[in-house]
Amino acid sequence: MTLAELLPSIGCSTEPVLEEGLWPDGTSLNDQGLIIGGLPAAQLAARFGTPCQILDEATVRARARAFTTALPRAEVVFAGKSMPCPEVYRWTRQEGLSLDVSSAGELALAKAANVEPGRIIMHGNVKTAEDLKAALEYGVGRIVVDSLDEIAQLGALATHGQEVMIRVTPGVDAHTHAKIATGVEGQKFGFSLASGAALEAILRVVEQPSLKLVGLHCHIGSQVRHVASYEETVRRMVGLIASCGTRIEQLDLGGGFCAPYLQGEAGFDLAGFAHRITGALNYECAVHRVPPPRLLIEPGRSIVANAGVTLYRVCAVKRSTRTFVAVDGGMSDNPRPALYGARYAVRLVGRGGRPEPVTVVGRHCEAGDVLAENVLLPHDVHAGDLLAVPATGAYHHALASNYNQVGRPPVIAVRDGVARPIVRRETEEDLLRRYL
Ligand code: LLP
Repeated sequence: MTLAELLPSIGCSTEPVLEEGLWPDGTSLNDQGLIIGGLPAAQLAARFGTPCQILDEATVRARARAFTTALPRAEVVFAGKSMPCPEVYRWTRQEGLSLDVSSAGELALAKAANVEPGRIIMHGNVKTAEDLKAALEYGVGRIVVDSLDEIAQLGALATHGQEVMIRVTPGVDAHTHAKIATGVEGQKFGFSLASGAALEAILRVVEQPSLKLVGLHCHIGSQVRHVASYEETVRRMVGLIASCGTRIEQLDLGGGFCAPYLQGEAGFDLAGFAHRITGALNYECAVHRVPPPRLLIEPGRSIVANAGVTLYRVCAVKRSTRTFVAVDGGMSDNPRPALYGARYAVRLVGRGGRPEPVTVVGRHCEAGDVLAENVLLPHDVHAGDLLAVPATGAYHHALASNYNQVGRPPVIAVRDGVARPIVRRETEEDLLRRYL
């Protein structure tokens, strides 16, 4: 048995074929190496430096369209936190999606992208006075309230029929990492359905003359694999709609649709979701004799994750009991392995070779700064080599930090052989600007 067969679940970068589903649409390997968006990765790295994130526009647009095509009557809302960037907000808006934001900062990006206020939804378990005021000033269409305090605060600030939705905790386990499981009791988001808190919140909103209740919202978690988790959510949410005695026009099921990160992982069953969720909604509404609300969904990761590839330069290789391949980025551009134990495939750009298991580490002053453990790279990997990591388009730019005062990488949009920066690299000047 070969080494590659012994380690079946990790991304094997030494195979001459690309892992299916992980890379942007149309990514290929030819005699120029790895081609993304019609451009050689090596050329992109030389032109824009490393580390850098490549984002394939056509893939983002195609994934966005897949949602509107699968659910033509639903409102599809791009979860702006997954890839906060005005240009990406423009793409998803042009594809017919609305946008959700969770702070005045994300709203500022939405404004810069000219997203119409009526197509913006603001949520978050905490909205400061500044967040709420910014939302009201721009005329954000819907605000998802998440506490009784917030209902009172927004009620006081709003002057006329501000549309709101109520964030409900349906008590559904989405079988995902605890840090991104948000549908269960005992975590900070939403009003509990089981305890009656959600019903109380509905009454409070209805009592506020300056607020208009238009919908119920929930979000059971992220990287959710099973459609059944959403079906159960629909069942519970329609039960709440039926029992609350108020007409609920919109039901927002949030996002969370999984994306593949490793070879062999399946993407989300969107067609199955569309079919089963529409069926569940109609059935439950018929049983409870309530008119079906309009469905909303808020995909983020499933639209952008596999459109993104991060390029790193190998700076050093250390061979001891293990082989460490150290690159010029790390947990400042990708804290997901440290936060969620996330795993990634890694590919050496430009050549193959006899595979050797290595640990790819970052440049930061923490032992936990590991990007990928036990991945196969050619045994002669050396300083100067270029590595490409797919499935890095969601929550990478968003979660990036300046740890060790390392500037955050640029985001380079590629499309049909043309590359252009949509986020520039953070410079020492940028860093110094904040220090007084
Ligand atoms: N709607 C709401 C209310 C959300 O809170 C989120 C994500 C989404 C939609 C989009 O979920 P998606 O489709 O992208 O899974 N930083 C973590 C993910 C945190 C998700 C936060 N909320 C990560 O890197 O995995």
